[in-house]
Amino acid sequence: MLDPSSFIKESIDEIKKTIGDKKAIIALSGGVDSSVASVLVSNAIKENLTAVFVDHGLLREGEAEYVQETFKERLNLRYIDASEEFLGKLTGVEDPEEKRKIIGEVFIRVFEREAEKVGADYLVQGTIAPDWIESHGDIKSHHNVALPHGMVLEVVEPIRELYKDEVRIIGAEMGLPDEMVKRQPYPGPGLAVRIAGEITPEKIEVCRKANAIVEEEVQKVGLDKTLWQYFAVLTNTKVTGVKGDIRDYGYLVVLRMVESLDAMTADVPELPWEMVKTISRRITAEIPEVTHVSLSVSDKPPSTIELA
Ligand code: XMP
Repeated sequence: MLDPSSFIKESIDEIKKTIGDKKAIIALSGGVDSSVASVLVSNAIKENLTAVFVDHGLLREGEAEYVQETFKERLNLRYIDASEEFLGKLTGVEDPEEKRKIIGEVFIRVFEREAEKVGADYLVQGTIAPDWIESHGDIKSHHNVALPHGMVLEVVEPIRELYKDEVRIIGAEMGLPDEMVKRQPYPGPGLAVRIAGEITPEKIEVCRKANAIVEEEVQKVGLDKTLWQYFAVLTNTKVTGVKGDIRDYGYLVVLRMVESLDAMTADVPELPWEMVKTISRRITAEIPEVTHVSLSVSDKPPSTIELA
């Protein structure tokens, strides 16, 4: 059984011993894992940890403000708006894996610039147990990473033995707000994995608004406590609709809400019909570019959780 206060105390001692007076850097995504790892290390080495929050222009609504607000008193936080750099590289790209690859590459470039500025020796990562167990244990516990320009950082993974529920307990014990430690997992590439086809500013806006509506309505009925993830996908399909008396031609949005323990498998549970209908009505009423909303009922496998 995890004893949160001794875990925190022992981790802080260990981190102090490892990093000493040197500088460390972490990519803070705003997700539970990197948030808890950041705060834990910051409690040990204070300002010597720089938490870099990169805005790739694919964040959900209000996320940049939320992360800055939540962490400004707790971390030496650097907010980097690199959205133009990311979106420029994504122009014209349709293939989902290619999009992920580009986002990963630009991310490393942006992050490396900050690591150089900081003069970091250590890279803190919010790796948790399923991350390396699922990759058949081949992520070593002691390793270095070389950044593209040759900078070598020693990796520190303070929560690598923990599972998600334990990470949440540690976060709560360190005083992170409840809604932060309990928030749904959010993929690193953000809305990119929820937009089919080319990513354009218009599609980002539509997808962002639809996701905000889903989150709001799911939270209203309290299902955020039991669902693993709940979101809206903007398909690349346009369908006919009618708004007012006029025939319209707009996007098809797919609602995806799943239960899961670890994202390896997922089930679509029975959902309150009134909530589903409210989400559908709101999306088509509040987002003029959308004419149709459908609900995904596919489990994983054979489907994946994300669609793009
Ligand atoms: P799939 O779609 O593979 O997703 O069933 C499993 C879990 O992983 C998340 N996901 C990602 N996370 N980068 C990430 O950081 C990605 O490219 C990515 N693709 C999927 C997804 O949200 C789910 O929790």
